Amino acid sequence: MPETIASVKDDFLLKIEEKSAIIGVIGLGYVGLPLLNCFVEKGFQSIGFDVDEKKVIALTEGKSYIKHIPSSRIEKAVASGKFRATIDYSDLDQCDAILMAVPTPLNKNREPDMSYVIATCEEVSKHIRPGQLIVLESTTYPGTTDELMVPILENSGLKVNRDFYVAFSPEREDPNNPTFTTENIPKVVGATSPEGLEIAEKLYKKIVVTTVSVSSTKAAEATKLMENIFRSVNIALVNELKVTFMKMGIDIWEVIEAAKTKPFGYMPFYPGPGLGGHCIPIDPFYLTWKAREYGVATRFIELAGEINTAMPEFVVSRAMEVLNEEGKALRGSKILILGLAYKANVDDDRESPSYRIMELLEQKGAQVFYNDPYVPVIRPSRDYPHYAGRTSSDISNDYDLILIATPHDEYKALDFSGLTIPILDTRNVVQGNSVKVFKA
Ligand SMILES: NC(=O)c1ccc[n+]([C@@H]2O[C@H](COP(=O)([O-])OP(=O)(O)OC[C@H]3O[C@@H](n4cnc5c(N)ncnc54)[C@H](O)[C@@H]3O)[C@@H](O)[C@H]2O)c1
Repeated sequence: MPETIASVKDDFLLKIEEKSAIIGVIGLGYVGLPLLNCFVEKGFQSIGFDVDEKKVIALTEGKSYIKHIPSSRIEKAVASGKFRATIDYSDLDQCDAILMAVPTPLNKNREPDMSYVIATCEEVSKHIRPGQLIVLESTTYPGTTDELMVPILENSGLKVNRDFYVAFSPEREDPNNPTFTTENIPKVVGATSPEGLEIAEKLYKKIVVTTVSVSSTKAAEATKLMENIFRSVNIALVNELKVTFMKMGIDIWEVIEAAKTKPFGYMPFYPGPGLGGHCIPIDPFYLTWKAREYGVATRFIELAGEINTAMPEFVVSRAMEVLNEEGKALRGSKILILGLAYKANVDDDRESPSYRIMELLEQKGAQVFYNDPYVPVIRPSRDYPHYAGRTSSDISNDYDLILIATPHDEYKALDFSGLTIPILDTRNVVQGNSVKVFKA
């Protein structure tokens, strides 16, 4: 190991121990903001960077813009004097460690959109200084850190493993899960050098219960993809079984409850109206794309994608059947969708299958309304810009059908017995023999 970086390693480790290392987090979203908070709460001087000035202003005023992160937490962080948010990248040179948590979506051809990572690395390369640790946390294909990130950072004239350290450490955030928070989820870390690994692990051990080191950044990148592919494939499997069992007159929910009593070799996954969120519908295709470079077809991933994306069509066909039993056509019917968020008790509606269901129902001539206590007004989105501005409607008998798409606690607690219209339940929310409930 060349002189420069070896000599700063011990200083860096000491700074982490003494909590005098300054931490920069780029991208203050669902992942970056809690990460930044963790460092602040452990006593590290921290700076958050984002291109969205509105978010930076809100945070500076102590206001959170993410429902499950209370403003009181931000207020406390700001009051501690250790939290600062900015759009000015020139402050990056004050940081000892720079952690990047920017979006990694798919483009319209369903290929990795690396533009956010590239833009961020370009900014970092303008301000990088010797001795810094740069970590990518965004979910991405194996090879991103070595093949994409490092060359951009080296445009600065500095050299990786000689002048600065690089690591990849994926996020395992499960927003709004009270059992698992950033602090108690083990964190996987891979680096481009043993020194970088040692520093990155020491740093993360200040905020998480344990770190898990792997031999390379590629292995760390692959670990995150494997976890999410595992979910996508198993959700597809249970969705396929739901359709199959339904034809046989078997309730998949009852079967899952029975199967999960097996103390080994089985893990419950639950069916639904399709996949949603920023991760599971997207991340597997990062591997599919990269695998093509190696001449490998990822057939399980493709099949799971097909099954999961077909679920909204299945739900709509069930809506038609249920209305038919009522002597009604879908065309002209008024339908209320319960839940726009992709999962329970969050306000995150990114990639939510509810929008696809809404679109399919409207294409077939239904009048569609929604209710979601977490999404009072639909925000502008890239995929469904025409729905922006629609507002949440009350739950009542003024519809021909209610379609439950998200198992919010508010719906689980609801007394459905006053509803005389049919309810199509994709999440097993309605319990007991109340009213006309149909599964989808
Ligand atoms: N949300 C999750 O539950 C979750 C879980 C695990 C991993 N991830 C991964 O973490 C990464 C971030 O996801 P997220 O959900 O936090 O996204 P997000 O959209 O909530 O936040 C990203 C933030 O980055 C900002 N940003 C975009 N370009 C920027 C730039 N050039 N410089 C500075 N800021 C920039 C955006 O304004 C936004 O505030 C993604 O790769 C995602 O796949 C997300």
